[in-house]
Formats: sequence, structure tokens, C-alpha cells
Amino acid sequence: MSETRATTMRTDMCGALRATDAGRTVSVCGWVARRREHGEHLAFIDLRDHTGLVQCVIHGDHDLRSEYVARITGVVRPRPEGTVNASLGTGDIEIQDCIVEILASAEPPPFPLDARADDVDENVRLRFRYLDLRRERLQRNLRARAAVNSAVRRAMERQGFAEVETPMLMPSTPEGAREFLVPSRKEPGSFYALPQSPQLFKQLLMVGGFDRYFQIARCLRDEDLRADRQYEFMQLDAEMSFVDQDDVLAAISEAVLDAAEAVTGERPDAIPRITWHEAMDRYGVDKPDLRFAMELTELTPIFAETGFKAFAGASSIKGIRVPGRAEEFGRSKLDALTDRAKKLGAKGLVWMRVAADGTLDSPVAKFLVEAEQQALRDALAAEPGDLLLVVADEWATSCEVLGHLRNDLGRPPVHKGPYKYVWVVDFPMFVGVSDAGIPKPGHHPFTRPHPDDIDKLESDPMNVRSRAYDLVLNGWELGSGSIRIHEPELQQRIFNLLGIAPDEAMKRFGFFLTPFRYGAPPHGGFAFGIDRLVAILAGEENIREVIAFPKTQSGTDPMTNSPTPVDAKQLLDLGLRVLPKVE
Ligand code: AMO
Ligand code: AMP
Repeated sequence: MSETRATTMRTDMCGALRATDAGRTVSVCGWVARRREHGEHLAFIDLRDHTGLVQCVIHGDHDLRSEYVARITGVVRPRPEGTVNASLGTGDIEIQDCIVEILASAEPPPFPLDARADDVDENVRLRFRYLDLRRERLQRNLRARAAVNSAVRRAMERQGFAEVETPMLMPSTPEGAREFLVPSRKEPGSFYALPQSPQLFKQLLMVGGFDRYFQIARCLRDEDLRADRQYEFMQLDAEMSFVDQDDVLAAISEAVLDAAEAVTGERPDAIPRITWHEAMDRYGVDKPDLRFAMELTELTPIFAETGFKAFAGASSIKGIRVPGRAEEFGRSKLDALTDRAKKLGAKGLVWMRVAADGTLDSPVAKFLVEAEQQALRDALAAEPGDLLLVVADEWATSCEVLGHLRNDLGRPPVHKGPYKYVWVVDFPMFVGVSDAGIPKPGHHPFTRPHPDDIDKLESDPMNVRSRAYDLVLNGWELGSGSIRIHEPELQQRIFNLLGIAPDEAMKRFGFFLTPFRYGAPPHGGFAFGIDRLVAILAGEENIREVIAFPKTQSGTDPMTNSPTPVDAKQLLDLGLRVLPKVE
């Protein structure tokens, strides 16, 4: 597993000793994982380092308790017959004739440092994170993380990307998530912002002629925390010049596949691509989980002439088949499902349970003629015992509602294999319009429109696709990117659509726009979340498990007690005064 790290204090790692070492005199260092007494003056000690455990046979009286740090020198011997432990790498040997040196004593740990700690309150685990980190689970996760970082860095270097650091202190910028602000001592009342991503700087590196940039970048966003979100997180951030979408996707795929292989030992297949429209149409989400079927099925033509009021005239009727789940869904569960659909924006939900004889058990069956029922069964490939769900609405609503229900009813936990990667391309340029009738950008306003749709920008903006793309793994958004706008004229066209006049654009984004007047290459890039990729590859459902020192869901660190109030003097230096909390 890991190579020997001999030092002046030790000859071998605990977990690396094997039967082939029998007869060698070795020194190992580590923590006492377990002590078993065997009669007077004889004890078995499991000594642990990050490579594993080794059993040491100790004679005499030693005050060697749980989590004491010790150096043990002795001779490796095969274990006596009948005492071999097949579940341990070192299970067929032990260290005998031991000389014990206690290097540090230890208070009893607040929780057992093994799998039992998985059930300990997370606040306690985080308060004693340095002890939690000794556990195999955290060791494995953080080493998987190191392997991902290393593989990603090598893949980017191999492809000619140069690593460049960008500032942590930058101006506050008006879009995106909420920023963390840093007060300036020299200019009280002025603030830096911490980067939400290196986006602006990496584009300026392209203007600066770097051609291919990457960085494993720390990003900070003051967002509500969730399983897949922390205030601080890491991105593999990249930008390339003289490229189109295919080039960016190829370069990033290489890094992601290398990283996956480094952790799992298996190289995933080439990552498939689907368009945003197809993702919505078939899965009802822009981050489809391809590990399970239950695809959305088009039913509109079946009900073209229907007499059923809820379906008549609807522009999009779609359905999903939930295989074999009819029996499980009694009336109260079906009512709850209908409520959920309505909360998601549907006018209602038609459910049908397919009976043993194929008839549709549903309060609305009586409104559907036999030909409609048959066509519905055929379209959904319905079998007895299936639950069928149908929504009639605008296309987007039908898709989104059924997409949620599909995930609710079929989606396995994110970290359960197999790993299904997919590129989602051709996101719409704009999503929805403001009350003032102004289109809202789908990504940021610097995203390039799809080359085939540029002519429609003013005449039909809502049907303009962009050169924005996402990478999705098991239903999680791993990363996003786009080809950017590099021409000031096209940029102003987009701003005009967004109701931002040239002088206003200069005021808001001037430091970013001016450089583009000095000759910017066509460019594009991408960023994926290292924490999210590592979590899924390490089999974890929450990114906190793959971060050495994460914040809790409420944004605190129980170990350091941050955030903390600061001295009045510190505030004074910064020209700040704290106001009472607004309730
Ligand atoms: P975006 O904002 O989509 O794109 O971020 C890219 C990826 O970063 C990860 N991520 C997070 N991970 C953990 N905690 C968070 N709070 C968090 N927020 C984001 C996600 C996400 O997909 N500059 C653009 C990229 C580009 O256009 O090149 C950007 O940052 O995995
Ligand atoms: P109603 O005609 O509103 O009483 O609805 C009859 C049944 O059709 C109820 O089960 C509703 O939940 C369902 N329903 C109503 N509107 C829709 C719709 N747009 N899509 C799917 N089901 C609907």
C-alpha cells in the first residue's frame, strides 16, 4: 500500500510488515490502538500508524494505554497457529521480544478512533478533528484527495498548462454568490473581496498571452452550506486560448479521468455528451443522474384529441414509469406525491397503477378512452405492478416536475457506484425574464452565444443557446465552464440585451472590459470542484468527509471556535464598528 518510510526512529511502517519479514529486527512507531492483557506481565498491543496495525507482544509492566505514542523494537515472527488474523494485512505476523519506548502519553480519546466514530455526533468529531483524522476513513479520504490533486496537476502539465497563482485579495464584483469581505487597514471603509473563483484573472491571463493556464484554486463563497457546499472549496480551474468547446472538454476530461483512475484504479470510459435540451427532455434536470433509467417519455401526441380536461390542449404531456412500485404506493403516498408535484409547480399529477391484468387503476382512467390507455401503456412500456406518473403543462414545467419525481423515486445516494459522468452542453443563454422584461443570463454575462444562434440574439433571445457546459457525475454538478466573449462589440450587444448601457458597463466591469480592447484571443475554460469529485470517488456523501478541517453545516469550526469576535482595538485599526444584530 505505501512504501517504507524509514527514519532515524523507525525501520518499517506498522501496516507494511509481512511474513517475508520474519526474523528481522524492526522498529515501528505509532499509536496504541488496542491493548489486550494475557495473564500477568504479558500484553498484546496493536500499534497503529497511517499504514495500518501491527500486533506487538509485550512482556513486563508498561504503562501503555490507548493512544499513547510509542516506539517498539522487536523481532518479526509468524503468529502461532490458530492466531492468524486474515482480515489484517499484518495478520500472520507479530513483533516479539519487544523493547518499548513511550514517546508521549495520551488522555483517553473522547471517542473510539475506529469505525464506531462514524456514529459520533459530527460536532464532536470536528471539535477533535485531529483525532478523527487518525482514523482509517479520514486517512483514506484525504489520501484519495492527494491522489486526485496529484493526478490533476500531472494531467494539466502534460497538456501544456502553466500553473499561475491569482490574488486572494481582489475587488468586490457585482455578480455571483455572496462574497467574503476583508477590510482595508490603510483605507478604512474600503474592502477587498475574497475570490469566488479566479474567473476574471484567468481571462486576463489569456489577454496576457499565457495560452493555457491552470490552478488548483481556493475559492470562497458566503453561501448556505450543504452536503456539497462549503464556504471554502477547491477548484481545478483552467483557461485556454485559441480553442473551441471540444478542446476544453477534451483537456478537462483527461484530468478528470486520470484523477478517477488514480483513486479507483479503473479508468472510466470516454465521457458522453448530451445537450441541455436533451437532458431536460429525457431526465428533467440539467444535472442528470445516468445511473438509472426511468426516463421521461413524450406522450403529447397520444392525447391530441383527448376529452380529459387536464390533458386537453396541454403543450407538453410527459410521463415516467416507476417499475414495480404500484403496490408500495397507497393513497396517502400518492396524495403526498401529488402535493409534491404541485409544490414543484405542476397543476396536478395523474398517477396510474398497472393492475395484474394490465388495466390502469387510477381515478382518471374513466376519462381516457381505451385507445389512449393502450397508447399510454405502449409508450411507457408499462408492466403489471408499475406506477405511472403523468404531468401536462408547458414543456419546461412538465420536464422539471417529472425530473424531480424521477430523482425522488429512483436516485441512489450520490456516492454509490457506478460512476456515470456526462457533459451537458448548449445551455440556454438566458433563463427567464425579469419583471421589467429583461432576459436573465443563464451563466455569467461573459459567456459566448452559440455560433449558430448569434443572429437570434435580439429577435429571439430566449431561444439562443450558449457555449456553456457542465460536467455532471451521478447527478452532482462537478463543474462548469464556457467559451467566453472576447470581442468588446459582442460583449456590448449582450449588455444591451441585459439593459446595461456602455457607460454603466464600464462603471461596473471596467477593470475587466478595458483589457479586451487591447487584443484578446478567443478563449474558454472550465472549473470543477475537487471536493465534490473526491467525495464521490471516496464513497462519501458529504464533502466535509474529504476536507481536513471543514466547517459545520452552520459555518462554524468547533475545533478553533471560529468565527470569533475580535478586540475593540483591532476594529478601531480597521475603522470598523459592530452594530447590534438585526433580528
Ligand atoms: P462555478 O461557480 O460553477 O463556476 O463553480 C465550479 C465548480 O466549483 C464547485 N463549487 C463548490 N464546491 C464546494 N462548495 C461550494 N460552495 C462550491 N461552489 C462551487 C462545484 C462547481 O461546479 N469560474 C467558473 C468556471 C468557469 O466558467 O471557468 C466557476 O467558478 O463543483
Ligand atoms: P382536476 O380536473 O383538476 O380535478 O384534476 C383531475 C386529476 O388530474 C387530478 O388527479 C389532478 O391531480 C390531475 N391533474 C390536473 N391537472 C393536471 C396536469 N396539468 N397534469 C397532470 N395531472 C393533472
